Amino acid sequence: MPDSEAPLLIARDLVAGYVPGVNILNGMSVDVVPGQVRCVLGPNGTGKSTLLKAMFGFLPTQSGTMQLRGAPVLGTPPHSMGALGITYLPQRPSVFPFLSVEVNLRLGTWAFRHDRARVRERTERALTQFPILRERLRQTAGTMSGGQQRQLEIARALMGDPTVLLMDEPTASIEPRVAGQIYEIIQGLARAGKAVLLVDQNIKGALGIADHVYVMRTGTLFEEGPRAQFTDEVETLVSRWLYTR
Ligand SMILES: Nc1ncnc2c1ncn2[C@@H]1O[C@H](COP(=O)(O)OP(=O)(O)OP(=O)(O)O)[C@@H](O)[C@H]1O
Ligand SMILES: [Mg+2]
Repeated sequence: MPDSEAPLLIARDLVAGYVPGVNILNGMSVDVVPGQVRCVLGPNGTGKSTLLKAMFGFLPTQSGTMQLRGAPVLGTPPHSMGALGITYLPQRPSVFPFLSVEVNLRLGTWAFRHDRARVRERTERALTQFPILRERLRQTAGTMSGGQQRQLEIARALMGDPTVLLMDEPTASIEPRVAGQIYEIIQGLARAGKAVLLVDQNIKGALGIADHVYVMRTGTLFEEGPRAQFTDEVETLVSRWLYTR
């Protein structure tokens, strides 16, 4: 897809870390654009997850800016992000394993829980989009496969109808067939107008649906460009990202 739409969320020069004096993000910038999947690739430990945590307000930043439709939003706490239309899929599993699939989904409607019609409509939509969840509705979430749990997390993240999705490794440890379905769903969300920022170690999978690519190294932008710029074999790309000085 061409870079035609204006960015919805613009993060600039983010600097953040976990302990004083050690910055993990060293001035990272990204744009999140409606109708596009923008993916962030890069070696392990380079700060990709840290970028999403800083953007979603889980980690304070030392400096930088972030604007949503031109309004400053950096430092907004995670629990207020839903109201801004921003949702986040963490890298680590986040289903409540001892609760049913239905209750896990319901938790995604907490902000409008008194609006029963809306809760019903969103639940029905999720179960249509993720048919496996309909089959497992009363099952304890922790007893499902990793791929099914990941689908539940994505479905829950979509219950509030976000406009911006920050997704960290949506297909890690998931069998290729299910991973392919998840990538198709993510691409469908972008085609429906959502703005997706996808962090991924599955380079092939991510490049398969990306419109624009950011490559991170040691907490900063190493290179970026439209998908068409990343046509080399994955091995060639990786060695360039790892070994170019
Ligand atoms: N909670 C934490 N406390 C201290 N250091 C952390 C914490 N989380 C991550 N780090 C460190 O920050 C650096 C970047 O980690 P991050 O998880 O952002 O990398 P990543 O690019 O997402 O890696 P991966 O591809 O393995 O998921 C690493 O050196 C990591 O050890
Ligand atoms: Mg990570």
